[in-house]
Amino acid sequence: MLNVGNVTLKTNVLLAPMAGVTDYPFRTIIRKFGDFLVFSEMIASQAMIRHVIRTKKMVDRLDDMTAIQIAGSDPDVMAEAAKISVDCGARLLDINMGCPVKKIVNNYAGSALMKDERLAGRIMESVARAVDVPVSLKTRLGWDNDHRNAVSMAKIAENSGIKMITIHGRTRFQMFNGKAAWDQVKAVKDSVLVPVIVNGDINSPDDANKAICESGCDGVMIGRGSVGSPWLLNSVDHILNSAALVDFDKKALLNEHIQLMLEFYDQENVYKLCRKVLLSYCKGFGGASALRDKINRIDNLEDTMDVLQEISSGI
Ligand SMILES: Cc1cc2nc3c(=O)[nH]c(=O)nc-3n(C[C@H](O)[C@H](O)[C@H](O)COP(=O)(O)O)c2cc1C
Repeated sequence: MLNVGNVTLKTNVLLAPMAGVTDYPFRTIIRKFGDFLVFSEMIASQAMIRHVIRTKKMVDRLDDMTAIQIAGSDPDVMAEAAKISVDCGARLLDINMGCPVKKIVNNYAGSALMKDERLAGRIMESVARAVDVPVSLKTRLGWDNDHRNAVSMAKIAENSGIKMITIHGRTRFQMFNGKAAWDQVKAVKDSVLVPVIVNGDINSPDDANKAICESGCDGVMIGRGSVGSPWLLNSVDHILNSAALVDFDKKALLNEHIQLMLEFYDQENVYKLCRKVLLSYCKGFGGASALRDKINRIDNLEDTMDVLQEISSGI
């Protein structure tokens, strides 16, 4: 159990926000394996306040353990987006100050905010004041090797009313290269009283154990390792907290994931999204390489269903 402001998390294993991945179908599949706090895809605050349809879809059908993550650089717009997120049912609100992507950074959002602590503080304060649900921060170790200010950011966060901090153990400059430095997250954990979550390269229960040992953190956040292996959070929860292991059949899981996609998205282009999901589950299936070729050639919904049928029948 982990207390984040007035919300009690049943486990300290969290699903990372991932744009293009952590949609309603993915979150639903993850939640079959436990009461994990799951995060929406990053929501652009400007799009949220303009009620862009594609954005609203991203925050449709939240369950009681879903956090919405918002991104942006204007404190007032962020506060407004936060209020809308809570109206959509967000249990917790997360602020993105870690995204390294140029399009976001060039708008002074995401990890660029690590370079402007004053603005970062104003955004956090404005959002925390706007909503009743707890607000968390997700950030990195710093902008680059010479500017590792995660500790300073964490202190500002705590003073601004932030109730949990997640640190991806890389700098923005590193993007996704190298290895996440879990040991460097320890300084952040030691500098604040609010829970600190370690993130980056946790791909097995053993990784999770090491990450907790090296960082001293209160919990782990798992991203890429769960893609195509949604049971990973349960395996980690089992090792860290003796959670019961949930039985599953991988083919049935994939089937359910695809059915959720078909039901949630417009039929016209859903096959493109399904293609990504099918590819992610390929590893471990017999003839995975030939299967991948076949999936890459999927061009419509009928092809999608044919490949799914083929996988289900064991080919
Ligand atoms: C496809 C993809 C999309 C991502 N989108 C987001 C996002 O929307 N917001 C965010 O804070 N981080 C995002 N991230 C970063 C992850 O949340 C996480 O910090 C990072 O992948 C490191 O953790 P991992 O090694 O467990 O994947 C994304 C990562 C990936 C691979």
